[in-house]
Amino acid sequence: MKYAVVFESRTGNTAKLAEHIKSLISPENLVFFGKSSPDAAQADLIFVGTWTDKGTCCDEIAGFLKGLSGKQIFIFGTAGFGGLPEYFNVITSRIVKNIPSGNIIKGSYFCQGKMPQSVRTRYEAIEKTDPLKAKPMLENFDKALSHPDKNDIERLEKAVLPFLNNL
Ligand SMILES: Cc1cc2nc3c(=O)[nH]c(=O)nc-3n(C[C@H](O)[C@H](O)[C@H](O)COP(=O)(O)O)c2cc1C
Repeated sequence: MKYAVVFESRTGNTAKLAEHIKSLISPENLVFFGKSSPDAAQADLIFVGTWTDKGTCCDEIAGFLKGLSGKQIFIFGTAGFGGLPEYFNVITSRIVKNIPSGNIIKGSYFCQGKMPQSVRTRYEAIEKTDPLKAKPMLENFDKALSHPDKNDIERLEKAVLPFLNNL
C-alpha cells in the first residue's frame, strides 16, 4: 500500500496535521508529501488536507480532488469556526462533491485552527457598533488561538491509524 499526503496551508494549521500524518507512515510507503501535484497519483491512498475557505476546501484542493480517479481518499483539515462538529460535517460534505465517482472516500477529520490577528481586529471594529454580534465572534477567535492542540493531534491520529497498514 502506497500513501501520499497532499495539502494546502496558508498559516500552518493544516500543515501541522499533515506533518503528523507523515510521521505515522513508513518512509518507504510514502510516495508524495506536499502541495497538490500529479506525483501524488502514484499512491493508493491519498490524505488530502485543506484549510477552510468560505465553508469548503480551498480552490487548489478542489481542483486536485476533481482530477482523482480510482483512489482511496482521506480528507482532513482545519477551520476557524470549530465550535460544532456539525459544522465540520457540512464542510466535509461540500468538499466531497469535488470527488469524481470511482474514488473511495475512506474517512475525514477536521479540527479548529487559529486565525490571524487581523481577523480579531475586524471583529473589534464590529464590537464598537454591534457588541452583541461581535461577542460570539470574539469568543470563537480566542478559543481558536490554541488550535490545533495536542488533543486535536491525538484525535487525528486515532482517525487515520485504521487506514495505515504499515504499523
Ligand atoms: C479568506 C479566508 C476565508 C476563511 N473562511 C473560513 C470559513 O468559511 N470557515 C471557517 O471555519 N474558517 C475560515 N477561515 C479560517 C481558516 O480556514 C482557518 O484559520 C484555518 O485553520 C487556516 O488553516 P491554515 O493555517 O492551514 O492555512 C478562513 C480564512 C481565510 C484567510
